[in-house]
Amino acid sequence: MLVLCACGCDDSDATTTSSAQTGTTAQTHTQAQAEASSASYANGQAVYVQSCLLCHQHDGGGVPNMQPPLVGSEIVAGDAEALIELTLRGIGGTPPSLPASGEYAMVMPGAMHLTDQQIADLLTYIRQEYDNAGPILPEEVAAVRAGLE
Ligand code: HEC
Repeated sequence: MLVLCACGCDDSDATTTSSAQTGTTAQTHTQAQAEASSASYANGQAVYVQSCLLCHQHDGGGVPNMQPPLVGSEIVAGDAEALIELTLRGIGGTPPSLPASGEYAMVMPGAMHLTDQQIADLLTYIRQEYDNAGPILPEEVAAVRAGLE
């Protein structure tokens, strides 16, 4: 790790302690995963909080009869293209929405307004956080979006 000491810091003990703590915080995921995806994980969490949390809840548990849980969802963990399309189009609203299942009282709005990068970060976040599935790349989002337009 590169540590900049522009203000003439000479307290190397403090620096060592703080980087050791950072390492401990990342314990739930493998170190490699955490390093490779830490930027998109934070961005993805921010997009989730802004666009999805209201309905799918902080823990991804959903609300019975209103919105389904994302935890344990085969759709979240499954085919990347299907998940991207669902997120872009939404469910049960006006086209380009997908048809509703009829099991939930709410309509899911589409997220066409988010950028490819935001959607990639968001879906990478929910797959990692709730379903232990692999990342989604902005290029994959762009390809699905191009097919819808
Ligand atoms: C206004 C509430 C609402 C918002 C906001 C919302 N959703 Fe949904 N979502 C729903 C509802 C309702 C369904 C179920 C629709 C159906 O099956 O008829 C759903 C279904 C899903 C599913 C399918 C889950 C499964 O296993 O069936 C995924 C994945 C999903 N939403 C992801 C997201 C993401 C990602 C966001 C943020 C961009 C988001 N949702 C925002 C209401 C919402």
